[in-house]
Amino acid sequence: MEIRTFLGADADDSVLARFHALFEADGRRTFPGFPAQPFPGYAANMRASRHYDLGPRRVWAAWEDGELLGYGTVVYPDRHMLETAIPRVIVDEAHRRRGIGTALLREIAADARAEGRATLAYEQVRIGTDGEHWARAVGFANTQLRRWQMLHVADVDPALWEVPVPAGYRLVRWTDAAPDDLVAAFAQARNAIADAPHGDSSLLEPEWTVERIRQSEADIRAAGESARFVVAVCERSGAVAAVTGMLLEPGRVDLCWQRDTAAVADHRGLGLGRVVKAAMMRWLTVDIPGLGRVVTNTAADNASMNRVNEQVGYTHYADIGLFEASVEQIGAALGTAAAVPAPRTEPALGGITRPRTSAAPSGPR
Ligand SMILES: CC(C)(COP(=O)(O)OP(=O)(O)OC[C@H]1O[C@@H](n2cnc3c(N)ncnc32)[C@H](O)[C@@H]1OP(=O)(O)O)[C@@H](O)C(=O)NCCC(=O)NCCS
Repeated sequence: MEIRTFLGADADDSVLARFHALFEADGRRTFPGFPAQPFPGYAANMRASRHYDLGPRRVWAAWEDGELLGYGTVVYPDRHMLETAIPRVIVDEAHRRRGIGTALLREIAADARAEGRATLAYEQVRIGTDGEHWARAVGFANTQLRRWQMLHVADVDPALWEVPVPAGYRLVRWTDAAPDDLVAAFAQARNAIADAPHGDSSLLEPEWTVERIRQSEADIRAAGESARFVVAVCERSGAVAAVTGMLLEPGRVDLCWQRDTAAVADHRGLGLGRVVKAAMMRWLTVDIPGLGRVVTNTAADNASMNRVNEQVGYTHYADIGLFEASVEQIGAALGTAAAVPAPRTEPALGGITRPRTSAAPSGPR
C-alpha cells in the first residue's frame, strides 16, 4: 500500500470515477437514504483547488496494485479559522482495519503542521459508525453533537409553509447576491448565528461584514453553486430581523442544504425563524419542480431551532459529531511530529500525481 498526493485538477473522469465510487459506497453505508452527490458535482469539487467557501484543499490517496483503497482530504480555511485544518478520510469498506485511515491521517497531520495549523477538526462524523470509533481511537475528542434533519418534500403538507408574516415585518428574497440596499443589514443579521450553541467546537462562523458577504457570494459563484436567501426586514428600523439560506447545486433537484438560519436577538419570540423557513420552502417548491429533499444541520441542544425545523416538516435524520484534536498531539501519537515531511517524488500514475516539490508554505494563507 502506498500513499501519494493526488491532484484533482489533472485527473481525468475515469480516475475521478474511482474516487466517486468509493465516496458513494461509503455514503450508502454511513448515510443510508441520503442522496449521493452525482458525479459531475463531485468531480468539479475534486478538480477545484479550494473548498467553495473555506479555502484550499489537498488530497492524498492510498493505492495498492493500481486499486484505490481510500483517500483523505484536508481543507485549510483562509478567510477565518486560520488555526484550523478540516480533514476527511474515507477507506474502502473491504480494506478497513488495516491502518490505511491512520496512514492517511498521518500525511494530513504532517501537512497541517507544516501549514502552521493548531487544530484538526472533523465536521461530519456520524455517531455510532466506524468514523466515530476510529476518530476516538486515534485521539480525537467530541466537541459538539449536531443533528441533521431532513425534509422530504413529497411527504410534507404544503399547508405547513403557510405561515403569516407578523405585522411590522416584510419578507425579501434573492438568489446569489444580496441587494445593495440591504447588504449591510444582512451582514449584521448573519452575526446572530454566532449566538447558536457551539459546544467546545472551534469551528465558528466568521464575523460577517459587507465585504465578507460579497466574498462569500463570489466564492459560491466561482464554485458553480447557487445560494438563495429569505430575510424578514423590520419595517420600522430597516434591520434584517431573521435570515435563512439555501445552497443549491445547479441541475440537482434531489437535494439541497438549508443553512444560516437565525433570528436577531431583538426580534426573537415572534416566530420569524419559522416564517423565513416556510417562505423559503414556498419559493423553492414553486421554482424547482421535483425538488426531493432539504437537509439542515443544527446543534443537538438548540431546542428552539430543532422545533422550528419540525414545524416546517423536517424529521430527524442523523446524529453527527464534531471531533477535534491538536495537530501536535496527533502528530506525536502518529509519529509525524519530529519533522516537516521532506519533498518527495511520487511515482506517476496515469498523470494524476505530481511531485511535491517543496514542503507546504508555513502559516495561514
Ligand atoms: C474511519 C475510517 C477512515 C477508518 O479507516 P481504517 O483504515 O479502517 O482505520 P485504521 O485501520 O487506521 O484504524 C485504526 C484504529 O482505529 C480503531 N477503529 C477503526 N475502526 C473501528 C471500528 N469500526 N470499531 C472500533 N474501532 C475502530 C481501531 O482502534 C483501529 O486499530 P485496530 O484495527 O488495530 O484495532 C473508515 O472506517 C471510514 O472510511 N469510515 C467512513 C468515513 C468516516 O467516517 N471517516 C471519518 C471521519 S471524516
